[in-house]
Amino acid sequence: YKARKSLHWPLTKHHSCVFQVSRKDFEGFTNLFHRFLQVKGPSVEWVKIQRPPEDSIQPYDKIAARGLPDSVAACLNKLVVVKLNGGLGTSMGCKGPKSLISVRNENTFLDLTVQQIEHLNKTYNTDVPLVLMNSFNTDEDTKKILQKYTHHRVKIHTFNQSRYPRINKESLLPVSTHLSMNGQSAEGWYPPGHGDIYASFYNSGLLDQLIEQGKEYIFVSNIDNLGATVDLHILHHLVSQPNGKRCEFIMEVTDKTRADVKGGTLIQYDGKLRLLEIAQVPKDHVDEFKSVSKFKIFNTNNLWISLAAIKRLQEQKAMDLEIIVNPKTLDGGQNVIQLETAVGAAIKCFDNALGINVPRSRFLPVKTTSDLLLVMSNLYSLDAGSLTMSPKREFPTTPHVKLGSSFTKVQEYLIRFESIPDMLELDHLTVSGDVTFGKNVSLKGTVIIIANHGDRIDIPAGSMLENKIVSGNLRI
Ligand code: UTP
Repeated sequence: YKARKSLHWPLTKHHSCVFQVSRKDFEGFTNLFHRFLQVKGPSVEWVKIQRPPEDSIQPYDKIAARGLPDSVAACLNKLVVVKLNGGLGTSMGCKGPKSLISVRNENTFLDLTVQQIEHLNKTYNTDVPLVLMNSFNTDEDTKKILQKYTHHRVKIHTFNQSRYPRINKESLLPVSTHLSMNGQSAEGWYPPGHGDIYASFYNSGLLDQLIEQGKEYIFVSNIDNLGATVDLHILHHLVSQPNGKRCEFIMEVTDKTRADVKGGTLIQYDGKLRLLEIAQVPKDHVDEFKSVSKFKIFNTNNLWISLAAIKRLQEQKAMDLEIIVNPKTLDGGQNVIQLETAVGAAIKCFDNALGINVPRSRFLPVKTTSDLLLVMSNLYSLDAGSLTMSPKREFPTTPHVKLGSSFTKVQEYLIRFESIPDMLELDHLTVSGDVTFGKNVSLKGTVIIIANHGDRIDIPAGSMLENKIVSGNLRI
């Protein structure tokens, strides 16, 4: 930009825009990097950690018991739904944004989100917009797809999060010396975690625009959490707090099970609620952190946040989120680190922050094809973009499913199922090796299928497996 300017080459609005964005990114990165250099030792002193006070994490039932206001629409018109859409589908073997993976009846994560909000807007005659926080990895593909929702009753806005340079682990120098605009040297850059939302949202100008339109709160969640629907009780609780006691931040937490010991938890620290992530825990306290009895709840990343408070904190430069150092190895073998922050870490900065202990159903993330199998099955029914557990399942818990590495990529997983098995009475499923499932298979109780290396197991159409182990090259 500067070179063009000094040579008096024509500068378009596009050049100026790219320059502004790069300048903001540079400032943001410089700030984060300086903070990283100053950090000495862990960000929490273990002895100062306290259990959150009784009333700082409220049970969902207590919030819901207050009922809904006469005018649900008035509450909804203050709300903006924000989905974190910076991530790719790489861990499920897909190229492109994760939000564009089909998860149920050909609907993608994004389709389901749009259907949910459209349903709200039609039911209550409201105007709840959807905002997508894209990254440079997801923006182009997402925008192409957005055209298909033009005639839906949901206004969709997007803004881009920052692009920061990966740095060499030893030298701390950036690994890329030039900016990649179209994929070249893409390895040198990364989106710096969902904690980036505050700065990028503010810098994009969209935050101010929404405030001007009378919007007051955002409901933020991971786009891959199919349980993160707009909850009217939580919204009502948020908007009905008296002035002076206005709650600026709600984090939905849920009871921890042995399967989610790594999730961040809420603690009381220096008189404020704070998110404690495993990355911040000193090594000799990691087992204690994972304990289900000491730290009982974890963060679902469903967050309700005041727009005015975000604006205030950004303008006061008061959002000092703990830095997560994420080590990576590039294709060429170079060890790098990327500095990230988490959206929930900001809870300590807001006034009257609150945790709400929500039912597990509000946390339905799809991280692997094992999760995908559950949400594609008859365990759930789909209604206006929302998944609910089938009433035909006798226990409220979801089965434990573990598909082996032959199922990791969505494409390969799909080929292995002629149809999704009936799983209504399933408790546990482990599948390993080269296994395929015919049409209309039914799985009940505990089922373990292990094909040894070089063998293949084809589960015939119509089979019913109940508390069964199938192994070797057995055909059943
Ligand atoms: P991840 O899939 O990366 O995180 O992103 P996770 O393993 O669930 O756990 P946490 O929440 O990071 O602890 C969760 C959501 O955040 C978005 C992803 O697209 C996904 O919806 N995300 C992540 C961004 O939008 N930007 C980022 O830089 C990172």
